[in-house]
Amino acid sequence: MDALKVALLLVAVVAPVLVFRWRRPAWYWMAFGIVFAVVRVLVRYRSVMEACGLTVPPPRWRLTLARWSRREVPEWRAPRILRIRPTRTGLVLRLRLRPGQDAYDFSAASDRLRHSLAMYNVIAKEVRSGVVELRMTGYDVLKRVRMPAVRDEHPMCVPVALREDGQVFCRDYLQVPHALNVGATQSGKSVYLRNLVVGLATHRVALVGIDCKNGVELAPLARRFTALADNPETAADVLAALVRYMSRIYDLIRREQGISLDVPDAEITANIWDLPRHLRPVPVVLLVDEVAELALYVTKDEERRRDQIITDLVRLAQLGRAAGIYLEICGQRFGSELGKGITMLRAQLTGRTAHRVNDETSANMAFGDIAQDAALATVRIAADRPGTAVAGDSSGGWVRIRTPHLSIRRAVDVCNANAHRTPDIGELAPFRPAVPVPPLTGKVLPKSTSASAF
Ligand SMILES: Nc1ncnc2c1ncn2[C@@H]1O[C@H](COP(=O)(O)OP(=O)(O)O)[C@@H](O)[C@H]1O
Ligand SMILES: [Mg+2]
Repeated sequence: MDALKVALLLVAVVAPVLVFRWRRPAWYWMAFGIVFAVVRVLVRYRSVMEACGLTVPPPRWRLTLARWSRREVPEWRAPRILRIRPTRTGLVLRLRLRPGQDAYDFSAASDRLRHSLAMYNVIAKEVRSGVVELRMTGYDVLKRVRMPAVRDEHPMCVPVALREDGQVFCRDYLQVPHALNVGATQSGKSVYLRNLVVGLATHRVALVGIDCKNGVELAPLARRFTALADNPETAADVLAALVRYMSRIYDLIRREQGISLDVPDAEITANIWDLPRHLRPVPVVLLVDEVAELALYVTKDEERRRDQIITDLVRLAQLGRAAGIYLEICGQRFGSELGKGITMLRAQLTGRTAHRVNDETSANMAFGDIAQDAALATVRIAADRPGTAVAGDSSGGWVRIRTPHLSIRRAVDVCNANAHRTPDIGELAPFRPAVPVPPLTGKVLPKSTSASAF
């Protein structure tokens, strides 16, 4: 009878915990998972390192000492734990390597470590010479993406997705001015773009959009856009206007440089961020959805227009950064089959993000020239996980990310609430989207603070 009671009690306690783990893995992790995982890692550490081949033989002097003193031969040694830090999504284990080990040993063993320590994912990263960090996640953080609140590092750094190691992936325009985003249809490119627009909407930045799908993705967000083109013809005019604006900014920078002997080095500027605040023009982010539409043509006239568009894009990519013009280009494919100038443009796009693609050639358009293994990871993204992507840069590093699912309604709300921040740019004034007066909702919009009439 007693045994039955104990069994019932156990079921009553364990069953809710298991359901909790299944339905709310993030809460489960915070409530129980962290404690279980820390205990498991500390208890099993030595045997796991041994089993995964991450131990090294003792040094010769210890062997000699053991022989002289007729003591037992010392054991093989595992890397020393420097720190174990629980996080919102997993654990971070910092290890000091033993002589003869390198970070690659840990990357190669990450799958074995993941199974042995019963974690969802393990990623090894070298912190500095001789120190490796194992970033482990306790559950599948990309299944239902919840973005943690993050402090903005600087205005041009936008948190846009979650990385598979539980960290936030930020699109930092100052570090990576231009980026390319490829992916098959329905892979989540437009939602990525929407997340970016919402992230940028609250900053002092001008958004310029080109969406040749008749504006279905960007037109609803038009209130926050300084200029919007929904067909290749308008796009050509917008790009030409942007190039004119860029040369005006360079004139301004040139005027302000005033290099003479008595100007301190730190005050000589070659880009907008070094200009005094009151003179600094507003940065511009150009967002292009379905770029291939801009490169297709049938008639001779369309061909001329296409050449002008690509030339302007290349010029903006080459020269735009210092004038505070940043490019974000999305498309299903972005290869040389789109005609001349495309590979030249691609070479200027440092940031690479690839959503699910159907073939390796498309993945290679993003990663072929920088990281082969990233291209393979892109092809393996599951079709039932839209929004998942591989993000890399020209330094060869890459990481799996997933955007939070952001509905168009929520994006529209954020853009409308920040419509007062939309700056006017003289050259782009004819392309300012005509949007109807917002319906009166009774909500008081925040006061205008940063709209600049540059
Ligand atoms: N991060 C995400 N989480 C969940 N669903 C997503 C996510 N990103 C996109 N989706 C869904 O995938 C579908 C395609 O997304 P979309 O961005 O329009 O793809 P694309 O622009 O590449 O054709 C949409 O129905 C969207 O709701
Ligand atoms: Mg799309």
